[in-house]
Amino acid sequence: MNSANLQLDDNGSLKHFLTIDGLKREHLVSILDVAESFLNVSDRSVKKVPALRGKVVANLFFENSTRTRTTFELAAKRLSADVLNLNISVSATAKGETLLDTLRNLEAMHVDMFVIRHADSGAAHFIAQHARPGVSVINAGDGRHAHPTQAMLDVFTIRQMKGDFTPLKVAIIGDILHSRVARSQILALNTLGVSEVRVIAPKTLLPHDARESLGVHVFHDLEEGITDADVVIMLRLQKERMDGALLASEQEYFQRFGVTQARMKLASPDAIVMHPGPLNRGVEIESEVADGPQSVILEQVSNGIAIRMAVMAMAMNPRALGGESA
Ligand code: CP
Repeated sequence: MNSANLQLDDNGSLKHFLTIDGLKREHLVSILDVAESFLNVSDRSVKKVPALRGKVVANLFFENSTRTRTTFELAAKRLSADVLNLNISVSATAKGETLLDTLRNLEAMHVDMFVIRHADSGAAHFIAQHARPGVSVINAGDGRHAHPTQAMLDVFTIRQMKGDFTPLKVAIIGDILHSRVARSQILALNTLGVSEVRVIAPKTLLPHDARESLGVHVFHDLEEGITDADVVIMLRLQKERMDGALLASEQEYFQRFGVTQARMKLASPDAIVMHPGPLNRGVEIESEVADGPQSVILEQVSNGIAIRMAVMAMAMNPRALGGESA
């Protein structure tokens, strides 16, 4: 799967957004800067700009979602697009229609952009390969592979809170093995030049070659890994993607890898706490940490609207939004 080439046009501008892999620092900074320019749209009395006026965006969510689906819908509406939310459970997919047939039928209704979440890694890439010229595809999470808009809203939040990426030590804790979010975050953080990306997990929840394949520092002891971290990101246990029992129990997991107030004292005093959601209180995070003063978890959700506006607007109209500078 070479999503990187597929997502850029001949000028190096985004036409789809499928993965962080293969994007340069300039691409990521350009997305962050365009998102910054959209941030205040949410505060206006009329929460709209005309960037996608006359365009049709179809949200195809074949997996559950709260944050991603709703923020994509809000983002498209704030860009003045017409939005279709396909209810997969009552659509023809439930009667056996293939993904490609669904695509062709929606294209016949002149859809300009597909936002797709799917349990299969590579589903968004497949749709992008088969979409008509001029139609954009945005990956809203595919299997274990990638969740690039989540990674972008996470690095946007880090930039908002910390400014410069280069001195930062970022610790990502939990089920790295099954996490499309972690894969995309690690690519984005390394591309943006953070000092150190650490992953902290039991051996059963890490790829065996994590250090080499992901470019991270590996820890199996939470207290060691969290020490002096500037950014602490937790992930949920993705049981729906686990084959067999990889953990003794959730209670034991929380004892070894749960982030508590006591353990946060080991991190940098001004460390921020992040979680892409959905979060499981008492499993990977203590409520006092999730709701505490260092938590920016709800800021991440708000920032998701501006990031998704940026990605959609750039994919539809790269020249108008400075995409060519990358
Ligand atoms: N972070 C994330 O993808 O959340 P949802 O599953 O609610 O979209």
